[in-house]
Amino acid sequence: MPATVLIGSQWGDEGKGKITDHLSQDADVVVRFQGGNNAGHTIVVGEERFALTLIPSGVLYPRVTPVIGNGCVVDPAVLLREMAELSDRGIDPSRLRLSGNAHLIMPYHRKLDAAMERYLGRQQIGTTKRGIGPAYMDKYSRNGIRAQDLFDPKIFRQKLEAVLKDRNRVLTKVYNQLPMDPEPIAEEYLSYADQLHDHVVDTSLLVWEAIHEGKNVIFEGAQGTLLDVDHGTYPFVTSSNPTAGGACTGTGIGPMLIDRVLGIAKAYISRVGGGPFPTELDNEVGEKMVEIGGEFGTVTGRRRRCGWLDGVALRYAVRVSGISELALTKLDVLSHFETIKVGVAYDSLDQRYVDFPRQQRVLYNCHPVYDELPGWNTDISGVRTFEDLPKEAQAYVEYVEELAGAPVTIVSVGPSRAATLVRT
Ligand code: GDP
Ligand code: IMO
Ligand code: MG
Repeated sequence: MPATVLIGSQWGDEGKGKITDHLSQDADVVVRFQGGNNAGHTIVVGEERFALTLIPSGVLYPRVTPVIGNGCVVDPAVLLREMAELSDRGIDPSRLRLSGNAHLIMPYHRKLDAAMERYLGRQQIGTTKRGIGPAYMDKYSRNGIRAQDLFDPKIFRQKLEAVLKDRNRVLTKVYNQLPMDPEPIAEEYLSYADQLHDHVVDTSLLVWEAIHEGKNVIFEGAQGTLLDVDHGTYPFVTSSNPTAGGACTGTGIGPMLIDRVLGIAKAYISRVGGGPFPTELDNEVGEKMVEIGGEFGTVTGRRRRCGWLDGVALRYAVRVSGISELALTKLDVLSHFETIKVGVAYDSLDQRYVDFPRQQRVLYNCHPVYDELPGWNTDISGVRTFEDLPKEAQAYVEYVEELAGAPVTIVSVGPSRAATLVRT
């Protein structure tokens, strides 16, 4: 039974939720290892659509234990709401397990996130304003409050008062905001303790035991490679490590226990928020992708910027995460284009780059060099085997795996479970 790390290989929204759900039919444990409710993972089951932000996408299968690992940041009100919403829809979230070491997103994190963005003006990152960045800031400056602190009211209040004294200074003196009172925050958060108590366990041990018992474990990434705080298009990134290495630190599992790394890539590419985007199509072609692909954010409803598949970035994603297989999603969206382009290199500042450039200056000035492939001009959303795809669509998939340097083992041609073509 394999331990699989599933990650986004672009700027997020590649269809990780759909593919995690697909793999979950044979899974025992599905664990999120980074990010928080900045993620929006969509699963479509028949007429029903689920948009999960925090709870792992395996939750729809009753035998799966969904786990939120230590690397995540958790807004407890959001978590409890998501659990209640699932319950209302007949999905039992009681199996959910949460790491006591996961950091909590606090109300001042959300306030700081919004204030920091406002102050950046035109340079703003376009965050989801869920408090993700400031929560990770507190984690790394060792001022964070963790899930386990909810169960010791005295410690919780002490930590809250200490950190808020400092954060209030920043809120008032730097960002011109009103200070926050610790007491209502303590009351609100401590009121969640009872509801969360039975869910908080040593998730590192849980996942380790599951792997050692031969169970099938999936590590579900959020965001994507190019949003990684170390390997992405910094500073236009999120504040965690969505690359495969994050699965180890974000759960407390060693790399030798991981058998495969499945990278999810859209057949084109999108980005939501600010930052460089070499293959962006700021024209009617990009607009067509937005329309056909329904490219609006799951969390914020924002329009996603779209462009042709970026082979330079995809090869880079394969490298930095050691991706062993790819799932190519939304191939159906490309059915309506006469010809299809793929970025294979960048020209920037009088130089050609075939490897993803490390310097921000280079990335900003990139002009992609494209290969052009014939389209198939026919609806493929009803196709159910790879062999039944038009030969141009098969050729496109084969071209992508050659370019990326990893085999495409799953092709998705629609949001539904059935529209998933597994290549054997
Ligand atoms: P995630 O964040 O990576 O899980 O991706 P999102 O859920 O934010 O965005 C992917 C969107 O594309 C969702 O609305 C999915 O229902 C949809 N989707 C997933 N796979 C396919 C596909 O193969 N074809 C089409 N047309 N839509 C898809
Ligand atoms: P999933 O898991 C796409 C983007 C935001 C912003 C940047 C930083 O659904 O693929 P943050 O709130 O994390 O500090 O914002 O990262 N971003 C995402 N873009 N998909 C996501 O998640 C994202 N999560 C964050 O738009 O540009
Ligand atoms: Mg998403």
